[in-house]
Amino acid sequence: MGYPHESHPKESVVLSEYFGDAEARTYDGWIKRGGYKALEKALAMDRETIIDEVKESGLRGRGGAGFPAGVKWNFMPKEPTGPHYLCCNADESEPGTFKDREILRWTPHALIEGCAITQYAIQAEVCYIYIRGEFTEAIGIMERALAEAYDKGVLGGNAMGSGKRIDMYVHRGAGAYICGEETALMNSIEGKRGNPRIKPPFPAARGLFGMPTTINNVETLTSVLHIINRGSGWYKSLSLNNPRSTGTKLLSVCGQVKKPGNYEVVMGFPLQDLIYDLCGGMNDGRTLKACIPGGSSVPILNREETEACLLDYEGCQEVGTMLGSGGVIVFDDSADMVYQIMRLAHFYAHESCAQCTQCREGTGWTTRILRRILAGEGEMSDLDLLLDLADHMTGRTICPLADSCAAPVISGITKFRGEFEAYIKGEKPATLAAV
Ligand SMILES: Cc1cc2nc3c(=O)[nH]c(=O)nc-3n(C[C@H](O)[C@H](O)[C@H](O)COP(=O)(O)O)c2cc1C
Repeated sequence: MGYPHESHPKESVVLSEYFGDAEARTYDGWIKRGGYKALEKALAMDRETIIDEVKESGLRGRGGAGFPAGVKWNFMPKEPTGPHYLCCNADESEPGTFKDREILRWTPHALIEGCAITQYAIQAEVCYIYIRGEFTEAIGIMERALAEAYDKGVLGGNAMGSGKRIDMYVHRGAGAYICGEETALMNSIEGKRGNPRIKPPFPAARGLFGMPTTINNVETLTSVLHIINRGSGWYKSLSLNNPRSTGTKLLSVCGQVKKPGNYEVVMGFPLQDLIYDLCGGMNDGRTLKACIPGGSSVPILNREETEACLLDYEGCQEVGTMLGSGGVIVFDDSADMVYQIMRLAHFYAHESCAQCTQCREGTGWTTRILRRILAGEGEMSDLDLLLDLADHMTGRTICPLADSCAAPVISGITKFRGEFEAYIKGEKPATLAAV
């Protein structure tokens, strides 16, 4: 997708309609485009009706896990005994994912509107928008939009003249991937080290500053305003025949395709159409080898699986992977899968918060073994050792960062074993110096 926005005929543009349209960033520009109508409408509705509408729409969390948004909101206490909080997760550090930043950069008022509706629904007077610290441009744009929203009375003690208080603050992250995990994010806002917390208690019971809290992704919260504006029936209709995965999804495509970028399609869209039609296919003379469809934390697909994959929660599950954050990483036949998997493992080793032994040690060992193989010093038993390590890193830690390191290793060895063996047998020259 180019900027100014030129959508492909197969795209279904909802969230990305104003990407590339700088006027939409301002309050006046947003109003001209129908902005803040959904918030006005929501403030006149009762809270339960909003939550029911979002539940009915089928909207599921776009941050990775796909948990139904309305169901999550329903966990918040109905009779507050103290402050409630909303955290908007704009940490976006998952390798291959770069869609939330475009919402922040181009339609900051859409995010403010989605957050404000959610705050009203869950009775949270305060929302923290936790933005990845490196997004300096997006942070500036969001801060300007918030200042305008306060100035125009959208936010503050009498939000939109409703007599209700809705406050919103930008909180800058400090460059740690783990702070995107919802409980680490809350610790980080509290000024503590960004370590994930043990659950339960879940955030809706004991979250930010010990109070009931909901955490949602930028794309999830922005989708809310469209559901309020156009109704849950319309939202549900944006799906290719799967009532369990509804709406549109922003997909960030990177790797060896002709036209990488962000694309918005309805749930259930075929991954092969995304790669071959929307992204113009592979670079000249190259063929598709593999794809990671949901950000670096999900299992790798081989070519056949990629071509059979439908991009929704169930479609991805059917071919043994996950939709995750929608970061689609495409590899052509020139890709060295052993090297690529080592790079991913190295990322997780670098980003482990080191609380859990399986993660702290497992991600480091995995990286070192993969480097040894790439240096031509691996042994056949290393492959079983890697799989055994991955097994001990799956489902055994406070948060799933260790699982995220294990997923590409398990799927990579299973599907591209020959490439690992070629290094071990010396059929392929070493590509790394020994460490
Ligand atoms: C290590 C790790 C990093 C994460 N990073 C992000 C992130 O950058 N953005 C995000 O929205 N969710 C991230 N998540 C998922 C959040 O914990 C949480 O599920 C999400 O923000 C909930 O919002 P949603 O229900 O709208 O998807 C991460 C999870 C883990 C385990």
